[in-house]
Amino acid sequence: MLVQIEVGTVVLCGTLRAALRSLRFFFVLTAKDAKALAKNAKANCPSASSRGLGSQVAWSGLKRAPRDKVRQIEMWKFKNPIRHAIPETRWPTAAEASLSLLYQPIRIGRLEAGSRTWVPAMVPWRATADGLVTPEVLDWYRRFAKGRPGVLVVEATGVRDIPSGPLLRIGHDRFIPGLKELVETVREASDGETRLFIQLIDFLTVKRRPEKQKYFERFLEISGRHRPALAEVTSDLQWVDAPDERLRAFLAQAPDEVVDQVLSERELEALRFGFRESVNDMHLAHVRELPQVLPQIFADAAGRARDAGFDGVELHYAHAYTMAGFLSALNHRADGYGGAKENRVRLPLEVYRIVRERVGDDYTVGVRFLGDEVIDGGNRVEDAIYFGVEFARAGFSFLSLSKGGKFEDAHQPKVGQAVYPYTGRSGYECMPTVLSDATGPFLRSVPLAEAVKRAVNESGFTTPVVATGGISTFEQAESILQHNQADIVGLARQALADPDWFIKVRLGRGDEVRRCTYTNYCEALDQAHRPVTCKLWDRVELDEPGVSTVDGGRRRLLAPDWEA
Ligand SMILES: Cc1cc2nc3c(=O)[nH]c(=O)nc-3n(C[C@H](O)[C@H](O)[C@H](O)COP(=O)(O)O)c2cc1C
Ligand code: SF4
Repeated sequence: MLVQIEVGTVVLCGTLRAALRSLRFFFVLTAKDAKALAKNAKANCPSASSRGLGSQVAWSGLKRAPRDKVRQIEMWKFKNPIRHAIPETRWPTAAEASLSLLYQPIRIGRLEAGSRTWVPAMVPWRATADGLVTPEVLDWYRRFAKGRPGVLVVEATGVRDIPSGPLLRIGHDRFIPGLKELVETVREASDGETRLFIQLIDFLTVKRRPEKQKYFERFLEISGRHRPALAEVTSDLQWVDAPDERLRAFLAQAPDEVVDQVLSERELEALRFGFRESVNDMHLAHVRELPQVLPQIFADAAGRARDAGFDGVELHYAHAYTMAGFLSALNHRADGYGGAKENRVRLPLEVYRIVRERVGDDYTVGVRFLGDEVIDGGNRVEDAIYFGVEFARAGFSFLSLSKGGKFEDAHQPKVGQAVYPYTGRSGYECMPTVLSDATGPFLRSVPLAEAVKRAVNESGFTTPVVATGGISTFEQAESILQHNQADIVGLARQALADPDWFIKVRLGRGDEVRRCTYTNYCEALDQAHRPVTCKLWDRVELDEPGVSTVDGGRRRLLAPDWEA
């Protein structure tokens, strides 16, 4: 998951100060951590530092390095959360697995995947600061490919050629050779069994929360509205003609009650959360022109994906990013691309058509979008159903459902930090943890995929629907397929915990699966834009020959190998 913070502030391989800033965002450091971090940053290590969040898992007979105590900064929680256990399960024998729906091939567009298993996009923060594929990126996807999922989707990859920190990019032809190598790596490691798609993303700018003084001195654009508003609030007419400097100085010291009445909602948001662009910002030329420029940008990116050899692309229309902003019920643009849902889906369809023209009818072009935005006034499943049917009608090769992950309900960041779209309730719903309500985190989003699938099928389309969210056992996955709730099953965190899940289950060795505990240590690393690893394996066998590590050797970057 990602967010574009102002250029140069996304830190992975940055200065010590920047690294410390990034780390403070999500962790409270011990003095020892800070020292290790300083050492790492000085050595220009690709990761600032790392500490675990405290292992609660007894898995592994392997040698495990001690975990230091670090507290994660507040995330959204239920008021009286119930701690759910990881469901017990019976794993199939190899014969049962071979007869299951899960391990039957499926057509996705013009191509066939060998099974109905899917690893959804997950950003691991391993690209260079210029968005290029690194050896660590190759290792990361090679490790997933060894597990032989039916489909593996490469992380959200930026369609523009703009600085975006260590996020993969595909906005220029110079990215093609690295991506080609990635395709070859996955093909070789999976013996051609795993289909490889790449997720294409566009995102708008998000700035860090400013200091109040700085906001009023430098960022607030004084308009005709502010003076009369201040005069009214203070019952003092002198403000009607006051010079800008006096107004700024006064507001910088003014109590919240006054500021609340003088600033607009967007200005208050910029002050308290940091300025964040939205598709509604029609006063910004580059936002106004998105419908004119985005189709070609996406099409060029998709063309490069095809040239690099990917089996398909997934257009990222989910979460907090540009295209999801167009689909959102909070999109009020008055240029024909906002308001009614028919208008909100217009640009997403226009992007699709130009992409399709560019890559041809025989190429797989799918979409990821939200079954529910989980924010006030946002899209609900009825909107998702409408979009799903329109996407199927347009010719998308698959529909992958996600949920939530929005800025609108994100927690207020600290001064100097950027707002993060996975800290509120909608963020919880995107990656639910075992601290949940009575429903629990497992299969929580499946009804959304089911509703979209039903409507798509009833409209006469057979476009495969992918369900993801809290799926970790064969029984859960097979039941979804048997009950026609989805056509393909996505396992994100479970695949991160054990990339061999797919092959272990197929071989009848499911009892060897390393079960995800759904406590989101990986997500905390993601939020801090640090190399993502899993707490179940990143401290084990660190002295194994050839193991690549980060944080001064305290965290391994890949799950240990498993011999079939
Ligand atoms: C570390 C991490 C990175 C993620 N990055 C992306 C991403 O790049 N694009 C995306 O659509 N979803 C992303 N997700 C969300 C997952 O694809 C998935 O929807 C979510 O984790 C819920 O599925 P799960 O319960 O199987 O983990 C990410 C999740 C994690 C844990
Ligand atoms: S994949 Fe993430 S949530 Fe699952 S056990 Fe590993 S660190 Fe925890």
